[in-house]
Amino acid sequence: MTPIHLTLNGRPQALQAAPTARLLDVLREDLGLVGTRFGCGAQQCGACHVLLDGRSVAACDTPLWACEGHAVVTVEGLPARLREAFSAEQAAQCGYCSSGMLIAAAALLRAQPQPTDADVRQALDGHLCRCGAHNRIVRAVLRAAASA
Ligand code: FES
Ligand code: FES
Repeated sequence: MTPIHLTLNGRPQALQAAPTARLLDVLREDLGLVGTRFGCGAQQCGACHVLLDGRSVAACDTPLWACEGHAVVTVEGLPARLREAFSAEQAAQCGYCSSGMLIAAAALLRAQPQPTDADVRQALDGHLCRCGAHNRIVRAVLRAAASA
């Protein structure tokens, strides 16, 4: 099997997996990066998002071949600033949505370092939180932006 070459959380990797394998499965099952969650498996909930060249994408809908030559960042590879802001605002209850929210927030802050409340809500649109922690999550993203 021809390896797929990519950068994962800043480190070059040559992954021996089927090119058609879902990135989500490779991350969780082959590499043990279980911070990326499996929610709906159908690009509907946002739980599985990772950064692909800085864009927030659904790993449940991304085949491994699409990562060849690209940079993938999972929640484990994010800077501490965002996680600390989520912790400070108690922006999680069960935490199932958190990694996807953190990834979406990281993509937003990369593109727009000082977002408005409305910008944050738009960036997190499509990320479901069954615990209803949305307002605390929005505050956490704004806190992270303010601490930059
Ligand atoms: S598990 Fe990928 S969007 Fe829900
Ligand atoms: S904190 Fe439970 S789903 Fe968001």
